[in-house]
Amino acid sequence: MIDFCHPGSPGKLTGVVTGRRQLQAFIAAALRSPATVGAVAPSSTRLAQRLTAVVPGGGNPVVVELGPGTGSTTAAVQRRLGGRGRHLAVELDTMLAEHVARAHPSVEVVVGDAAQLTQLLARHGVSEVDAVLSGLPWSLFRPDEQRAILAAAAAVLRPEGAFCTFAYVHALPLGGARRFRALLDEVFDEVLTTRTVWRNLPPAVSYVCRRPR
Ligand SMILES: C[S@@+](CC[C@H](N)C(=O)[O-])C[C@H]1O[C@@H](n2cnc3c(N)ncnc32)[C@H](O)[C@@H]1O
Repeated sequence: MIDFCHPGSPGKLTGVVTGRRQLQAFIAAALRSPATVGAVAPSSTRLAQRLTAVVPGGGNPVVVELGPGTGSTTAAVQRRLGGRGRHLAVELDTMLAEHVARAHPSVEVVVGDAAQLTQLLARHGVSEVDAVLSGLPWSLFRPDEQRAILAAAAAVLRPEGAFCTFAYVHALPLGGARRFRALLDEVFDEVLTTRTVWRNLPPAVSYVCRRPR
């Protein structure tokens, strides 16, 4: 299911996409808007599994994914949920959103800006979520964009919920990445940095954040 957040848009899209199509969609999006994609390749299965560790293993959790891109993390979340709960994915790029909706018909794909998360989720009758996973290119965002999106993610988390994202190791010393890491400490009471996932292009660490302040 896909929600374009504007009238007259296509309704539900279903179907299957192959790995080659996923790569083609990723390259097309990266060429279309390099500053919003911010990656040279889709996240690896290993990194996607690391991110999905914050999805509760029992019950019917509500999971939100920010910037699903071509859907590698989406697939891992779907596997972990195994039909439980709800999975909403917020993607700015219309073509990538369509791609994810076709590949994952059970995911509620919303085309929109993650900074508007509260409003976007409200359209789907969701006010609180159990986990937020992000594939957003944080280090490329302006300070005000980083702050707005992170605040929006923290605002929708249940008190016992978790937020998880990743950062490329080679970029950790750069200004945008350092600013984002400091912001995590401002917004969350607990921020854990996991071990490097070497099987990713480029290698990455993930941040697991709990208890919004
Ligand atoms: C690094 S890519 C995602 C990689 C993804 N994990 C994959 O494997 O394909 C970042 C994604 O975030 C999306 N994005 C960037 N800014 C956004 C925003 N403000 N709101 C929602 N999505 C955004 C981009 O369109 C892109 O699809």
